[in-house]
Amino acid sequence: MTEKQLSGEVYYPSEEILKNANAKCQKLYSFAEKDYLGFWESEASNLNWFKKWDKVLDDSNKPFFQWFINGKTNIAYNCLDVHCENFRRNKIALFWEGENGDIRSFSYFALRRDTCRFANVLKSMGVNKGDRVTIYMGRIPEAIIAMLACARIGAIHSVVYGGFSVEALHERLEDSQSKVLIVADGAFQRGKIVELKKIADEALQRAATVESVLVVKRTGQEINMEFGRDMWYHELMHLPIASSRCDIEVMDAEDPLFLLYTSGTTGKPKAILHTHGGYMVGTYATCKYVFDIHEEDRFWCTADPGWITGHSYVVYGPLLNGATSFIYEGAPTYPYPNRWWQMIEKYGINILYTAPTAIRGFMRFGDAWVKRNNLSSLRLLGSVGEPINPEAWKWYYKVVGGERCPIMDTWWQTETGMFMITSMPCTPLKPGSGTKPFPGLQVDIVDEGGNSVNTNDEGYLVIKTPWPAMLRTIWNNPDAYVQQYWSKFPGMYMTGDSARRDEDGYYWIIGRVDDVIKVSGYRLGSAEIESALVSHPSVAEAAAIGLPHEVKGNAIHAFIILRTGYEKTDKLIEDLKQHVGHEVGPIAKPEQIEVVDSLPKTRSGKIMRRVLKAHALGIDPGNISTLEE
Ligand code: WT7
Repeated sequence: MTEKQLSGEVYYPSEEILKNANAKCQKLYSFAEKDYLGFWESEASNLNWFKKWDKVLDDSNKPFFQWFINGKTNIAYNCLDVHCENFRRNKIALFWEGENGDIRSFSYFALRRDTCRFANVLKSMGVNKGDRVTIYMGRIPEAIIAMLACARIGAIHSVVYGGFSVEALHERLEDSQSKVLIVADGAFQRGKIVELKKIADEALQRAATVESVLVVKRTGQEINMEFGRDMWYHELMHLPIASSRCDIEVMDAEDPLFLLYTSGTTGKPKAILHTHGGYMVGTYATCKYVFDIHEEDRFWCTADPGWITGHSYVVYGPLLNGATSFIYEGAPTYPYPNRWWQMIEKYGINILYTAPTAIRGFMRFGDAWVKRNNLSSLRLLGSVGEPINPEAWKWYYKVVGGERCPIMDTWWQTETGMFMITSMPCTPLKPGSGTKPFPGLQVDIVDEGGNSVNTNDEGYLVIKTPWPAMLRTIWNNPDAYVQQYWSKFPGMYMTGDSARRDEDGYYWIIGRVDDVIKVSGYRLGSAEIESALVSHPSVAEAAAIGLPHEVKGNAIHAFIILRTGYEKTDKLIEDLKQHVGHEVGPIAKPEQIEVVDSLPKTRSGKIMRRVLKAHALGIDPGNISTLEE
């Protein structure tokens, strides 16, 4: 990519990778650098529009950027119908393996047919353009069909991760004012059943807006079906109403496609809003160039559809590219630690995209489990969710990738919708670095004053150019959108991460600078865990922080003050962990809960989590001038 000798440990792409890559790298970077709007426009032109846009970007009302002005399209049309009209009609769009070994697959034709049928079911439930629909399921094809069906009729989907629990689901139903909830009876996880419908029933007792609940049968255990509210998906899909013809709603490029809740610094999770036009162009182009998807490839992104990675790189990006995607329902190591490697061999997966926490988890079981299977089909690897430590990177490269597969370390966020800093197949790699901004993006690292920092200095990671898949706002809260992302450094998008840039212009992400905790790559807010803790009768006050963990990256540690009349016992601590699991979800369960007499606070009463963290790590807490005596 460059003639210059790069510093540090560098892994260069092979001739073969370079020769076949979709991205002719230098060309792409230099085109986008000269004319970034032209670059995005040319990517948009590869997709289908009912009416072409008048203008690529409207930045007259910053930071409320708009893309592809007056363009009319529908992302689901581009994901399915377009391919049904070309040579991909019989190509596998999606194939799936359940944890229990069940297998299903969908051609583009079949996926469109089922999507249309389900879209008609939704319409018959009174779902109209702009209505919100919540989806709460495990990793099963119906989750994807439900998302695409919403998109087809212009409804706004809000997928809630199946690992979340009662209060997390309730909050999201309430905030989005969803009319319909699509849920599975349960999900298989590690040989057990997660009782999704039961959790949903409890959440629905707290939420009032849902009129209909559509239930997908996956696990088949006895569940409660409330007459007049709950209906079986498989029964509805066989009614005459579920016709396989369903007109596509013509959407404006800026019409909402989905809400996805994510954790921020304060209070409740916020709903990030993405649109049909810009999000489509962004996920299409990044998926094509970074994963270098070829017609014959089989692509596996291990993420859950309940997170942005699932939205962009299980569902939309691959389908827009006419790719073949694989999804797997269950736990990575069930029933044995080579489950993933078995499936890679069995299905001939060419591209594997996963998270550092999974890689570290597999490392623990040793190389032999990987080597039992033939992984020679793999050509490209990906990593996402948190910084990948060089040790895990090298293991992934060597043991999984057989030293022939470049690793795409993709840095991005729920808010960015698409990859922002990432390697491409042609990029010389440095283990642990996401390398460079994707073409067309201007990224920087700045100090408190918003000035670029020196090479290798740590600072705030910011983005200086708008991009098509950027979030448009926080649902129902445009002020928070401006305040949280655009106010600290005027004119720059604040990512919430700290980073440094080395002498070769490579970016190294350090971590969050706010109260977001990344546990096994999952994004959680200190505030959510704390509010779950104080909703227990025994807890007066709580503070939650993330501390380094060998496999999870970070683990949650909580500090609580008990109400009078309660005593610290092992049972109470265990009850509290269960309580957080029940309210937020198993991923939010604190590793450790410590009972304390007081918490460090500012004079205005805000908990100084930074001080707690420094104390726990035995490091200098920095400036504590605002600390209350
Ligand atoms: C945060 C966003 C969108 C991907 C899934 C997570 C961290 C994400 C990387 C990476 C270092 C990463 C950042 C970011 N992060 N990818 N490759 N290297 N850090 O999306 O849940 O919105 O979390 O994940 O801290 O801000 P998310």
